Amino acid sequence: MNTITLLQPDDWHAHLRDGLALKRTVPDLAQQFSRAICMPNLVPPVKTVDEANAYRERIMAHVPEGVDFDPRMVIYFTDNTAPDEVRKIADSEYVNAIKLYPAGATTNSDSGVSDIRKVYAVIEQMEKHQVPLLLHGEVTHNHIDIFDREKRFVDDILSPLLQQFPELKVVLEHITTSDAAHFVLEQDRNVAATITPQHLLFNRNDLLVGGVKPHFYCLPILKRQTHQQTLLEVATSGNPKFFLGTDSAPHSKNAKENACGCAGCYSAPTAIELYAQAFDQVSRIERLEGFASHFGADFYGLPRNTKTITLVKEDQVIPESLDYLDGEKIIPLYAGNTIQWRKM
Ligand code: DOR
Ligand code: ZN
Repeated sequence: MNTITLLQPDDWHAHLRDGLALKRTVPDLAQQFSRAICMPNLVPPVKTVDEANAYRERIMAHVPEGVDFDPRMVIYFTDNTAPDEVRKIADSEYVNAIKLYPAGATTNSDSGVSDIRKVYAVIEQMEKHQVPLLLHGEVTHNHIDIFDREKRFVDDILSPLLQQFPELKVVLEHITTSDAAHFVLEQDRNVAATITPQHLLFNRNDLLVGGVKPHFYCLPILKRQTHQQTLLEVATSGNPKFFLGTDSAPHSKNAKENACGCAGCYSAPTAIELYAQAFDQVSRIERLEGFASHFGADFYGLPRNTKTITLVKEDQVIPESLDYLDGEKIIPLYAGNTIQWRKM
């Protein structure tokens, strides 16, 4: 198949940042996706529906003329989130979910939840109002190996959580392991997962063999190839529990190529083509539309998009770098390499 037409895709997990960064990130994402879940880990984080609505306006100010883009907003779970905020989300036009970062798990997660049992009163309201809980699924204890942190989260936090709240809608974000994929498969329809392009296309060898490649460093960290294979299987299986979430996360070149480099891969400008590359590599390009354009909207209870996009099988070189902030650069995921798909 040399061209494929699909309903416009949505990105159910993206980082746009704020201020000057929006000049780069919003046009890049809006040209690829109709809707995006805009993650709230700003400094300071987006903690209420009012703050999320204000952030949405700052995003909308950067949407290019003639482009339709509908940012879907999320608030950031803290130990102090009020149970009443859940009802406000249920009544809100633009806010769809609450994102839980275990404190210290990743970029700007210091205000995250210190112990999930402390916020069970809020989660009870989320189950009642069917407001999705989006999870960064990694434990943070120093003694737990970085490659085991997702599995430990599933076993020690998520599994008991779902026993307590069996109807809770949960998205386990950016899954990276067979353990997480199998856990999601075993649950009811209220539990889903997003998968990034980097976790479908790459594994920890790409990050570490022949030298440390900071532009492949993200969290949860890339795992071994067997996990990558499971992720490819479930993403391309047509199972509606797995859908697109890029976790596109911009950091300047200097912040990545650093003695203490930041976590995050910037995939927004060519995200759908990177997914097409991954699906085509396992001869499943016909399964891309469900994953990219149907299942996420269905899970969130939002209408499917109506316009279409067309991808053509034609070489595309990913730029070496892009302008970012005032005079800085950003290195996109797979910079300088050629992929076989292009958006028309
Ligand atoms: O690699 C990551 N970058 N993982 C996250 O969970 C956060 C993100 C960011 O905000 O930079
Ligand atoms: Zn993220």
